[in-house]
Amino acid sequence: MTTIKKISKKQILRAVEELNKGKLISFPTETVYGLGAEATNDVAIAKIFKCKNRPKFNPIIAHFSTIKEIENHCEVSKEVKRIGLKFWPGPLTIILKRKKSSSLSLLLSAGLDTLAVRIPNNKVALELISNLKSPIAAPSANKSGFLSPTKANHVYNYFKNEKDLSLILDGGQTSVGVESTIITFEKNQITILRHGGITKEDLETKLTYKVVDRSNQKNQKIISPGLTQNHYSPSVPLRINAKRANKDEVLIGFGPKFKEPNLSKSGDLTEAAANLFSLLAKLEKEFKKIAITSIPEKGIGKAINDRIKRASNN
Ligand code: TXA
Ligand code: MG
Repeated sequence: MTTIKKISKKQILRAVEELNKGKLISFPTETVYGLGAEATNDVAIAKIFKCKNRPKFNPIIAHFSTIKEIENHCEVSKEVKRIGLKFWPGPLTIILKRKKSSSLSLLLSAGLDTLAVRIPNNKVALELISNLKSPIAAPSANKSGFLSPTKANHVYNYFKNEKDLSLILDGGQTSVGVESTIITFEKNQITILRHGGITKEDLETKLTYKVVDRSNQKNQKIISPGLTQNHYSPSVPLRINAKRANKDEVLIGFGPKFKEPNLSKSGDLTEAAANLFSLLAKLEKEFKKIAITSIPEKGIGKAINDRIKRASNN
């Protein structure tokens, strides 16, 4: 059962407890309400995709409370730090290269080598993150293809029957009301990928870097310089809908009929989604070729199939 609770210290600590248990919670940011999961928890993040009915694994923003913590997970140049110091906490998301050592879920990056990070300018959000002692992964708390929520009851209307979302923290109407601006920074140039709470003019006047607008690029396919959503594939060939392993192949199974490696022995699609990226990353180091059995085309299975189909075409 999903419940809405007014903000109090007690409810914030309850939300932290839920996140630690791998549950989802919804919380206010200054832009829109987020659907949050503890950012190292693969299964919890897979639940986000499932709840939102996301047909694809879009990467997800990680919300932090300090730049220092961002530096533990991402490469932060002194220029990026300067940008952060000017605009954080605030509605600006920066796409950074993730450190290999980062413990954050690979599902957040959806197969890319980057992480989208921001420090939200909302007291509740910041308190949640600092009490959790871990970043919170959160897309906007709407069903895929619907409007982003700016009030707690919008979230409730989308997810009231969702067992994975236990708690919505009601912080009233969000102050900015549109999503964060998403940028990349490379070679002294800021590239805007999505317009939002920080304008191009804000970036230009508060900083000295050239600002380029690539927000209307078709499907936002270019999501970090040189990288496209289609780009991701394991470094070894991937064959889908496989019945058994051929020579030199390892077969990834799904369900009780298959041995290890198995995306989910019990045939649970959410668990399979949670394991997908980390399993591929592990196996591509150990084998020359990967085969994967067919995955049911329903629920979050659609996102799994979308991703492995693209990877197998490369
Ligand atoms: O204001 C906001 O940004 C809100 C609040 C909750 O923080 N969040 C939000 O998240 O709007 P979402 O998932 O609805 O939109 C984030 C966008 C998606 O289009 C996603 O593809 C992109 O950010 N994104 C996330 N990580 C990325 C990455 N590593 N590279 C490129 N794009 C990324
Ligand atoms: Mg959204």
